[in-house]
Amino acid sequence: MKLSTIYLLLVFCCSVTFIYSLDDSSSDAFPFWPTQWVTDWTIIYTSSDQEPPFSNNNIPPPFKGGSGRTYYDWSNQAMHEVYNDFCVPIFSNGSDWTCDFINVKGVSYLVTHDDRPADVPPCCIFGDPWYPPAPNFIQTCGAVQNVTSSLNGQQVDYWTIYLPDSGSFGYGFYANGTSNGWTPASFYFAAAPSGWTIQNFENFQPTTPPANAFQVPDSCINASPCPPQG
Ligand SMILES: *[C@@H]1O[C@H](CO)[C@@H](O)[C@H](O)[C@H]1NC(C)=O
Ligand SMILES: *[C@@H]1O[C@H](CO)[C@@H](O)[C@H](O)[C@H]1NC(C)=O
Ligand SMILES: *[C@@H]1O[C@H](CO)[C@@H](O)[C@H](O)[C@H]1NC(C)=O
Repeated sequence: MKLSTIYLLLVFCCSVTFIYSLDDSSSDAFPFWPTQWVTDWTIIYTSSDQEPPFSNNNIPPPFKGGSGRTYYDWSNQAMHEVYNDFCVPIFSNGSDWTCDFINVKGVSYLVTHDDRPADVPPCCIFGDPWYPPAPNFIQTCGAVQNVTSSLNGQQVDYWTIYLPDSGSFGYGFYANGTSNGWTPASFYFAAAPSGWTIQNFENFQPTTPPANAFQVPDSCINASPCPPQG
């Protein structure tokens, strides 16, 4: 299973479901995001085959880490992920270059910077149509809460999904959710051909992102679909 397919399946799962379950957020048994938020995060790739979660972030080596930030505004179905150190590992030639995924008006753009390799364009269309996950995607994706761990000394409950072709995904939330939303703690998924990617959320703010967070750069004006990866 290729990493690009994993990413596609993940977002596909989360994107399709909102179409028929927008008004299904009544159950408080499932965690859900606030409708607007901004968060920093740390991303770690470990080549260990030991399955997450790792209590208090004791990640088995060897691993590499990077940082980033996500802006989310469900009222405009907009999301912007900033990868400060390396791009999400879905590219055949590796991803040790910075990138942004900007999802606005039903289109997801992959934006790259001066550190990109020669065969990667400055902007390409990653998905069209493409939508961010709905706030209640945990419920609509069919995830089950079967793992509990801890992060920064606090309890984190994980909802997990197993997809036969791509392995396990785990979405961890701090166990202090309210009717205004829950605080995401960590997300992990199986990497291919081996290892795991873990994203730990820090400084999560249920706040309106700045409008310029969803500006698409000029390099995207005549963007073509991203070259196939895998
Ligand atoms: C990326 O991989 C492709 C196919 O394997 C190869 O043709 C291309 O030269 C590689 N690009 C870089 C920058 O390594
Ligand atoms: C939880 O469920 C996932 C699949 O969703 C599975 O891969 C994992 O092994 C389960 N963990 C435990 C502790 O049962
Ligand atoms: C829940 O715990 C997290 C992690 O410490 C914290 O960031 C968040 O503000 C807490 N939420 C509430 C509603 O207290």
